[in-house]
Amino acid sequence: MLIGNQSAVIDRPTLYTFHGVISSTQGFTIGSSPWDESCKNKRKAAGQTLGRPALKTYHPMFDLETLCIVRDLVRDSKGGDAYLEIRPYLQRYALNTTLTLCYGIRMDSVWDDLLREVLEVGSAISLLRSASENYQDYIPLLRYLPNNEKNRRSKSLRDRRDKYLNELLDRVRLMIKQGTDKPCVSAAILKDEEAKLSGVEVSSICLSLVSGGFETIPGTSSAAFGSLSTPKGQVFQDRAYEDIKRHYPNIEDAWDKSLEVEDVPYVNAIIKEAARYYTVSAMSLPRKAYADIEWDGAVIPKGTMILINAQAANHEVEHFGPDANTFNPERWLQSLSPPEELPSSGIQHFSFGAGSRACSGQLIASRLLYTALVRIICSFKIVASEAEPPNTDYVDYNQFKSALVAIPRDFKVKLIPRDPEGTARCMRAAELRTRDAYVQ
Ligand code: HEM
Repeated sequence: MLIGNQSAVIDRPTLYTFHGVISSTQGFTIGSSPWDESCKNKRKAAGQTLGRPALKTYHPMFDLETLCIVRDLVRDSKGGDAYLEIRPYLQRYALNTTLTLCYGIRMDSVWDDLLREVLEVGSAISLLRSASENYQDYIPLLRYLPNNEKNRRSKSLRDRRDKYLNELLDRVRLMIKQGTDKPCVSAAILKDEEAKLSGVEVSSICLSLVSGGFETIPGTSSAAFGSLSTPKGQVFQDRAYEDIKRHYPNIEDAWDKSLEVEDVPYVNAIIKEAARYYTVSAMSLPRKAYADIEWDGAVIPKGTMILINAQAANHEVEHFGPDANTFNPERWLQSLSPPEELPSSGIQHFSFGAGSRACSGQLIASRLLYTALVRIICSFKIVASEAEPPNTDYVDYNQFKSALVAIPRDFKVKLIPRDPEGTARCMRAAELRTRDAYVQ
């Protein structure tokens, strides 16, 4: 359906709660925009920010953000004695990278007020974006009921989101005035270098990048660390660590190269398996028929909303084999000694969607996951808490089944240092490289 009918499924539906109430001030994100000229321009602009050539210019950002993860995990894990939740560190990572791309701004503390506000509002909006939760999207009469709690909540979240988006843009304006702004999407537009896009389109692109990554990356990576921390997962961790050491003469080299190339097969296998197995966007993003579609002897009329069950596709036994419901990175390898990836042909899994409206952030997502995984695996052995273990069921790991993007249940791990001197050397080198990289 998504590949064979690319142009017929290029549209997205508009829903009353999300489009009519929440998005009425800042415009629609790319992922929720119907297909028209403006969406085409926004997708093109996002493609430039997220494409392969641009990726090369982001190495200092990846370097700094992954350094901060390891730096804070070293501090908070107390040499392997303390149990901690890993997701907040990964949330800051995802949010800081997209805030840097859009506004040239980052926050150093995992518990920064603005950072937590963006995450809290974003997650609450993601719950209101569900295609199945809001009956008023389909039954207009419900919209006019007195004391409409959905509308009240949507408006309050919209106001909170407007407040921080305006605050971020004001900070960029100030930095431009002071001559301290960094190259980023919004500074380029505010300085009128990309005149083709309107102000609302710029907000929409920034919002798309921020909302595209802030739950998907921490969701996929923390679920992956959950699986890796179990007794069975520790075998995968050790094999990944061995494969990293096989590829690079020392840990400093592995840290450096993780910014540039994704060439350790076992790590790539873990990333593909985490994306497939946990399918953080279980029902993908809804599409809409742009034209009549002939499907299996029936006609799907133009305008019909199309929901894609990516989670089911990713667990299809006929395709992935009888162990489709098991987390097993080695399914992506053709040999184990040494690990070699299976040649990739066609779509590997459906976690990034497919076809004309597939995820624009796939390349950067994969690099974000890779760099974090290499640096964390090189630094620590991750062991699940027995009192608060991860839930590794691919449906039940998610706290809110109706949310657009899964929010993994909390769990704790302890982080046993693998090579404290090696990690300290890597951190010192990264600190020196990134000292002047980005303002706070
Ligand atoms: C593990 C990480 C990620 C996952 C699993 C994911 C998943 C998805 C999915 C399922 C879609 C809908 C695809 C379709 O309809 O076929 C999508 C769209 C999109 N994603 Fe991602 N995403 C991830 C990371 C990111 C990141 C980091 C960004 C940006 C920084 C991003 C930006 C976008 C945009 C802009 C769209 C809308 C594309 C359109 O409608 O034309 N994504 N993503």
